[in-house]
Amino acid sequence: MRKNDIGVIGLAVMGSNLATNIANHGYFVSVFNRTAQKTKDFLKNHPNKNIIPYFSINDFVNSLSSPRCIILMVQSGIATDNTIQSIIPHLHSNDIIVDGGNSFYQDTIQRHQNLLKKKINFIGMGISGGEYGALTGPAIMPGGDKKIYDIISPIFTSIAAKYNDESCINYIGPDGSGHYVKMVHNGIEYADMQIIAETYTILKNILFLSNQEISEIFNTWNQGELKSYLLDITKNILLKKEGKYDLIDLILDEACSKGTGIWTCQDALNLHESLTMITSSVFSRFLSSLKSQRMLASKILSSPKIIPVLCNQVEFIEQLRQALYLSKIISYAQGFSQLSIASKKYNWNLKFYNIAKIFRSGCIIQADILNHIVKVYKYDNNIINLLLSPYFQSIANSYHISLRSVISYTIQQGISIPTFSSAISYYDGYRTAQSSANLIQAQRDYFGSHTYKRCDKSGIYHTNWLQ
Ligand code: 6PG
Repeated sequence: MRKNDIGVIGLAVMGSNLATNIANHGYFVSVFNRTAQKTKDFLKNHPNKNIIPYFSINDFVNSLSSPRCIILMVQSGIATDNTIQSIIPHLHSNDIIVDGGNSFYQDTIQRHQNLLKKKINFIGMGISGGEYGALTGPAIMPGGDKKIYDIISPIFTSIAAKYNDESCINYIGPDGSGHYVKMVHNGIEYADMQIIAETYTILKNILFLSNQEISEIFNTWNQGELKSYLLDITKNILLKKEGKYDLIDLILDEACSKGTGIWTCQDALNLHESLTMITSSVFSRFLSSLKSQRMLASKILSSPKIIPVLCNQVEFIEQLRQALYLSKIISYAQGFSQLSIASKKYNWNLKFYNIAKIFRSGCIIQADILNHIVKVYKYDNNIINLLLSPYFQSIANSYHISLRSVISYTIQQGISIPTFSSAISYYDGYRTAQSSANLIQAQRDYFGSHTYKRCDKSGIYHTNWLQ
């Protein structure tokens, strides 16, 4: 009897679309879902001769050719662990489990170790592109044993998004590295979304432009260096109507999150990384969720008087475009810097050229800026910060004045732009040769004898400050 090429467990929208994508590329796909009805509904709505449903784990696993490759498309955390436990008794040594969910990389490292003891192979695979990407071609970030990746790579290479005919998938590195890269991708996604939202609030609340006018501006910007998937969908969002209303005006201003952005920031703290833009994007979502407090505070706490725009509107909009691009650059610089520190800490030997290439299509942060990042890493995998590369330093040196003007003017208007603000603070902090941290060291030594180093001589010093 014919055996199928691959199995997918979990038929929520990402799992269903991924299974369909694989089947559309000519592979035979076994599918299983904990709730049988979901499997039946999926096949009723998306009949596909290459997709074969199973209603017991045993039948599902036995339907696969050896070594069996099973992709888990279930919720991260306990659901992933439970699913792994449910299939282990049916697997043989050398079978392969692929976790395609947004799992926390430390969980992936742990699962990888536990499964190795049972001689079962494990690939932690970051998959980006949302439901549409899963169906038409996602960006894929696989981590685990390279020899195991090589066995399964033909299927995933064929279903991945393409950029100039090149598949947006590359082997990332050992154990949790694929999910780590996906986590940082999501962090960058948070910052990208937040700076676009801050740009929208400036255009709306300072220039008083309509959603349609803002959409037109985003459309124009999207033809140039700011071209990105997120700007593209934002221009569409702003045009969506519901009856006589713009839908955007009916959506409650409380941002939710599933946790990957928070993990990115927590990890930045552990690595001592200055991941200020992603962190401020996460905090902005938290602050947004305090809607009732914000409504109360808006009546009690005063705002500044509105002052007229300092320059003409066209000039201001160009400054804003430059501010958005430079902020985006700083955010990617921070994200890639975190990847570089993590790579050293976990001995992953990440290849940033390959990672930047994956991000160019299929994923949520796909953008033209990635072509410049690819070029930088092509020649130097060890560059310490993207801002120091010739292209990015030239943009920074010519756009930082616009970022400053936009931020200072917007803050004077009483409009919150935390992520733009954190961009310029990082930029100035990073390019400051002599900072104020000498005072912090003196304070620490004063109250806690924590000692300090000196600029004029080597060694560790303590001063009795009260003498
Ligand atoms: C992707 C997305 C995807 C998911 C986000 C949403 O790359 O396809 O990032 O993974 O949509 O995780 O995240 P929040 O719910 O935290 O905004």
